[in-house]
Amino acid sequence: MNAPEIYPVPPGFAARAHVDAAAYERLYRSSIDDPDAFWRGQAAFIDWLQPFTQVSDTRFDPDDLRIRWFADGTLNASVNCVDRHLPAKAAQPAILWEGDRAGESRTVSWGELADRVNRLANVLKGLGVGKGDVVTIYLPVIPEVFVAMMACVRIGAVHSVVFSGFSSESLENRIADAGAKVLITADEGLRGGRVVPLKHNADRAVATQPSIRHVVVVRRTGAEVPFSPGRDLWYDEAVAAAEPWCEPVEVGAEDPLFILYTSGSTGKPKGLVHTTGGYLVHAGTSWRIIFDWHEGDVFWCTADVGWVTAHTYKIYGPLLNGATSVLFEGVPTWPDSSRWWSIIERHRVSIFYTAPTALRALMREGEGPVAKHDLSSLRVLGSVGEPINPEAWRWYHAVIGGGRCPIVDTYWQTETGAVLLVPIPGAIPNKPGMAAKPYFGIRPAVVDAQGQVLDGPGEGNMCFAGSWPGQARTILHDHERFVRTYFAPYPGYFFTGDGVRRDGDGYYRISGRVDDVINVSGHRLGTVELESAISSHPAVAESAVVGYPHEVKGHGVFAYVTLKEGFAESDELRREIVAWVRERIGPIASPDIVQWAPALPKNRAGKILRRILTKVAANDFQDFGDTSTVAEPGVVDDIVHRRRQELAGSN
Ligand code: WT7
Repeated sequence: MNAPEIYPVPPGFAARAHVDAAAYERLYRSSIDDPDAFWRGQAAFIDWLQPFTQVSDTRFDPDDLRIRWFADGTLNASVNCVDRHLPAKAAQPAILWEGDRAGESRTVSWGELADRVNRLANVLKGLGVGKGDVVTIYLPVIPEVFVAMMACVRIGAVHSVVFSGFSSESLENRIADAGAKVLITADEGLRGGRVVPLKHNADRAVATQPSIRHVVVVRRTGAEVPFSPGRDLWYDEAVAAAEPWCEPVEVGAEDPLFILYTSGSTGKPKGLVHTTGGYLVHAGTSWRIIFDWHEGDVFWCTADVGWVTAHTYKIYGPLLNGATSVLFEGVPTWPDSSRWWSIIERHRVSIFYTAPTALRALMREGEGPVAKHDLSSLRVLGSVGEPINPEAWRWYHAVIGGGRCPIVDTYWQTETGAVLLVPIPGAIPNKPGMAAKPYFGIRPAVVDAQGQVLDGPGEGNMCFAGSWPGQARTILHDHERFVRTYFAPYPGYFFTGDGVRRDGDGYYRISGRVDDVINVSGHRLGTVELESAISSHPAVAESAVVGYPHEVKGHGVFAYVTLKEGFAESDELRREIVAWVRERIGPIASPDIVQWAPALPKNRAGKILRRILTKVAANDFQDFGDTSTVAEPGVVDDIVHRRRQELAGSN
């Protein structure tokens, strides 16, 4: 074994950081000894309308789960995110937007943001949206996303943002589950020079959804799109005609703020429900600390607005702190792979937060596209979405960060709302690939398969003891599934679905999902969801989906497909199945490899033996373990044989 690679906190960094090593130790200890006192202090960051009297009322008991924070406090999220910055910053930039096409940009000041939020809130009110109603947002990465989310929460409505790369079918399912009253979308989106037909998708989704009374359409490209008078209205016209002030609605800390869908290991995507008070406290305070944000910094998170990364650390975190941030509509490789670096140079970005998959893709282009640009403004780098491999980490550190910038590897989930494990940059030396140490108030537990909590170094399941304010409260319409998924596996703990290793220094390294979820380019895909999409194809009898190591995506989607009698294996049919999945879920779910399997290995109870399929997909043909449980002998040999043939053919 090599000596462990450690990158100390850069010289001079700790001196002006919000948290240095000594402060981390002290604060962490006190946050665990008396979590209520710690979070009460953090909650002072929020402007409450009615102060709360009790900090927490929580227990991780599957028979009596309770997660309530600041419960009798009241507040309004948009006042905290927008209004309170106006006295000092009305004319300063809140959002520095860069369009997909180079050269197309817009600056939105805090004053302009506030004006649009108030007006759109009035528009929504006029459309009959009130406290607790759900508004679905299906927009490209444009400033109107911020406006739409803030307009919802100003009137106590709940936003449900759906990634604009999702298909109309995915949108439809999410609208139906939430019973949304209004949909906010755009005529079209633009990504990497390609047009995304958002209004067209939206129309298809809404056609079957009587809960949607109105569709608000933002003009993004100005294309001619179908328009239903009476149901549809143009955003720009409606906002221009609306009153410029909307009284913010007082909501309770435990009232819902938003719903966000994510894939699980079984069944359909689950709508995680986040509430107002606890989420805002955790998001706002942790964002400032983990990115070590100071007045004057320019922050950029590259995540799409459809993911929790963007909700917490691109939208709520920066807005709550009155920070200026970059918003980029496009992709890192278009028109060429220096696009991101040119944006960093142009806006003097000082804090940059992205995903390992993008870094791996850009790494392949070599240093040329980076060298053309001045990245000396960068001070802090962040990573999120999947474990970052040490090679990508080193490239990020040396080539992008010039060896000067700490890397904040943030481990968290849609369910956790905000960060759980993170090397706070002024406090914790980096070890490449390790999300390092618990955030304040967070108690990690490494739990083995028998449910034993490990002491000291070792490997196991990533669990957490005790609640934190940002965590999701339930799954919409399915509290029982919420309890069963996260709290029943290891009673007393929240179970993440990830594996973890803790080293002798108490550093944590996440090893990836241990359930039937595949992390593809930092996006979660449920194998069951993929299988049901594939199996709905008329030629398909059955399918099994597993992840396999992929150089850029981290994991790729490998689909074993059994055809119905009378259908012949062909490359054309493979392409058709891939297109079928894209159409049903979205391009991110496209299978990378489709392998025909006349039969799938199952045990006598009919359960598919994924362990074997996963090994074969990784081209690992040894040590299948005990195959005596496979009901039909020869099935495994056949699958291995076919895989070997495919590999030989592709060489
Ligand atoms: C899953 C959560 C957190 C927002 C982005 C994804 C993986 C996330 C890390 C990290 C190792 C990570 C986990 C987790 N993950 N961040 N820094 N190191 N793994 O949110 O879509 O809810 O996915 O992403 O597997 O469970 P999400």
